[in-house]
Amino acid sequence: MKTAIYPGSFDPVTLGHLDVIERASALFDRLIVVVMHNQTKKPMFTAEERAALLRRVTGHLPNVEIDCFDGLLAAYAAERGACTIVKGLRAVSDFEYEFQMALANRKLNPDVDTTFLMTSAEYMYLSSSVVKDIAAHGGSIRDFVSPEIETEILKRMRKED
Ligand code: COA
Repeated sequence: MKTAIYPGSFDPVTLGHLDVIERASALFDRLIVVVMHNQTKKPMFTAEERAALLRRVTGHLPNVEIDCFDGLLAAYAAERGACTIVKGLRAVSDFEYEFQMALANRKLNPDVDTTFLMTSAEYMYLSSSVVKDIAAHGGSIRDFVSPEIETEILKRMRKED
């Protein structure tokens, strides 16, 4: 059974992430989407909340599992027996960073490779921060996130006011 893991901070999951999840889930027997800690970021949602949101939007994909992990990605991949890490590439600007991460992860765990999927053109400019910024300034995020995620972002922003 070929297991892939798709890591990220997913704060929150966007339609761009969902696009990668749907395409990766068709390529592998099992896809584990893992909510991880990115030490450079201060998230809006806790890891458990982010995982719960991911579960809500991936319920239609039976071979997708959602998990949380706070540690090294390479160690997590070994623990779960994954053959590859899936990452989405949005633009050439993503490449250098992703290339560095892929090589570092392979050095840490030679049994795990990285598979890059090109993000669909309509989501090339998207990121979780862009979505939160648009919402914070009163713009519509309907085209960027699922309706249930939109509701949760707006609820959280009202609470923080
Ligand atoms: N559609 C929409 N947005 C996308 C996207 C896509 N297909 N692909 C990426 N993005 C967005 C993300 O939402 C994120 O937005 P944000 O910066 O506004 O939060 C941004 O692009 C960057 O994504 P990514 O580079 O995947 O960062 P991340 O924070 O989501 O995930 C980890 C980074 C968690 C995978 C990384 O920090 C990690 O591996 N941590 C574990 C510790 C470790 O092992 N470190 C050593 C690694 S060598």
